[in-house]
Amino acid sequence: MAPVQAQVLPTSPQSSITPEKVRDGIDLQINGEHYLHTGDPQMPLLWYLRDVLRLTGTKYGSEHDGSGADLILLDGKAVSAIAVPMAKLSGRQITTVEGLAANDGGLHPLQQAFIDEDAIGCGYCTPGWLIAALDLLKRKPHPDDTDIDQLPNRCRCGCQTRVRRAIKRFAAGKAGQP
Ligand code: FES
Repeated sequence: MAPVQAQVLPTSPQSSITPEKVRDGIDLQINGEHYLHTGDPQMPLLWYLRDVLRLTGTKYGSEHDGSGADLILLDGKAVSAIAVPMAKLSGRQITTVEGLAANDGGLHPLQQAFIDEDAIGCGYCTPGWLIAALDLLKRKPHPDDTDIDQLPNRCRCGCQTRVRRAIKRFAAGKAGQP
């Protein structure tokens, strides 16, 4: 009887794929969407919004002139996006001006009130005003001119008086009305 030949199994080729480790990152929620930031934890939020996500509604400015143009809502409170590093944002909820409109694209009533009162000049300061006003309105649903003037925002186009009217129009529930 012929001897039984041992069967030699073919060896598997060396894999050229290197398994990737799960990367640490900062889990952010911006306008209801989750993002994982794996870059520099000291990067200011403003640059992440503008340069990474291309959410350019939030503007640079307050570091020098106190215009309030870089305000965003962090857990519902208005804060400067240039002053907050990414490392402080894990698990926090961020809303930018792009997140104010409804899912169908309809304007937030405060945005409508700004249009009603013609409170927008060049528009540079407008996102910051909207964010700061929403924070104020949550604390004080019917603010007066003094409350509004105490916001950190300034308008170089001279819209301050019309901004006051817009915020008060919204507070009165008259956005979108004649
Ligand atoms: S609308 Fe131009 S700075 Fe305010």
